Amino acid sequence: MENHKVFRFRTLNELKEEVEKEGVRIDLTEDLSPLKQPVKIGRRTSSNSMAVLPMEGCDCNLDGSPSELTKRRYLRYAGGGSGLVWWEANTVVEEGKANPHALMLTRDNLGSFRELVQETRKAAKDKNGVSLIHILQLTHSGRYSRPVDAPEPMVAFRDPLLDPRNGVVRDDQVVSDDYLDALTGKFVEAALLAKEAGFDGVDIKAVHKYLVSELLGGFTRKGKYGGESLENRSRFLIQTVKAVRRAVGDDFIVACRLNVFDAHPYPYGFGCDRNDMWKWDSTEPVALIKMLVASGVDLLALSSSNPYYIYPQFGRPFDIPSLGVPAPKESQLAIIAQMFEFTRAAQKAAGSVPVIGNGYSWLRQYIPNAGAANLKSHSCSMVGLGRSSFAYPDAPHDIFTKGAMDPRKVCVTCSKCTQIMRDHGSTGCVVRDAGVYLPIYRKARAAAQANAEKDKK
Ligand SMILES: Cc1cc2nc3c(=O)[nH]c(=O)nc-3n(C[C@H](O)[C@H](O)[C@H](O)COP(=O)(O)O)c2cc1C
Repeated sequence: MENHKVFRFRTLNELKEEVEKEGVRIDLTEDLSPLKQPVKIGRRTSSNSMAVLPMEGCDCNLDGSPSELTKRRYLRYAGGGSGLVWWEANTVVEEGKANPHALMLTRDNLGSFRELVQETRKAAKDKNGVSLIHILQLTHSGRYSRPVDAPEPMVAFRDPLLDPRNGVVRDDQVVSDDYLDALTGKFVEAALLAKEAGFDGVDIKAVHKYLVSELLGGFTRKGKYGGESLENRSRFLIQTVKAVRRAVGDDFIVACRLNVFDAHPYPYGFGCDRNDMWKWDSTEPVALIKMLVASGVDLLALSSSNPYYIYPQFGRPFDIPSLGVPAPKESQLAIIAQMFEFTRAAQKAAGSVPVIGNGYSWLRQYIPNAGAANLKSHSCSMVGLGRSSFAYPDAPHDIFTKGAMDPRKVCVTCSKCTQIMRDHGSTGCVVRDAGVYLPIYRKARAAAQANAEKDKK
């Protein structure tokens, strides 16, 4: 606990001193030019090395189409200067929505997506001369499905740690092999719709213990999608990547956002040492990355941990946790160094296929210093920003035109955006975009508190 301190660095030197004191590897440079480098992704080229990571807003219309609030977010990202926008979780089947306001591209609402993709392309070109690359994240929320307004979990296997938290009480809540066989086809349908709507690529999402990610840790699952062999546990992901690649052809990006470390014990987590869940075992993640590349993936982004459980720090280091999450024992810098190590190992395994690095937002105005250093040492190919993109969408523009980020605009990692999501509101930055999101935050908090009181009675 004593290692976990709030951000307090007023100069790059102060940050460098702390990095040295803690003995962790976080490289920092004042030469920010690597961030401007174009990046080859499949047959396309990103205008620069900065990317917006997928950030669910829980603000779409009930038919899955973008609402006014959704459009506002994407236009802000697009005008911000990044070369690539990785669109948030888009569900491939109704029952796999994480919330009723999740994004879901269908034949019926395709026109609204096409329009927004065109508008965002124009905004990126007009404001920063960027030819924006759009990736749509395809998902099934599995354990975290809540398609209407109550949880309806569909899990990969029974998990004694998570089941009691998610209302999983029966074996028939485990998805069958037949269901998974058919689900691959739904990913393919969604990918074809995405291509038609003008996206440059899709992501077969395998992070954060949603269905495809959970399967990777399915050591206890019986049958062809589970068990000790990595081949079985990754069968769904690999067959889906191959099927999507076959359907979309070569002129379309097939990406994968992959959890390389679940921070969850054996036999329920992926990428963790069998005897110590806190230790990363890179053997299977590295093998899987090679399998993904061989199956036709041409872009990777990583993440780690389960944001719904009590150790979300490995995916999103913070100053203040969301409610119910204990303060971690590790320092944020130690966690960030570990996240950078994940991408370093992944980039080595992926060869020329670009890996988008993560773990940056906590570093505030020193994001570009760390990002540029990681690009320079080939520890990743692009620098991805999540919460920072909510708070300060035009940070890349400022980095490219002013050589620095404005400390008054940075994400303060207060976890309020996560809290809104947990309270079932539409999310964004409560601190830096307060006009829109402070009232939403207050309303969602009050409703959640009233519900909690009702449950107590
Ligand atoms: C409110 C919120 C929504 C998110 N939605 C998604 C999502 O839809 N898909 C995804 O892969 N990651 C999602 N993430 C994770 C982010 O993409 C990112 O990995 C995380 O915030 C850590 O990066 P950062 O330190 O730059 O914020 C979300 C995170 C937050 C806080």
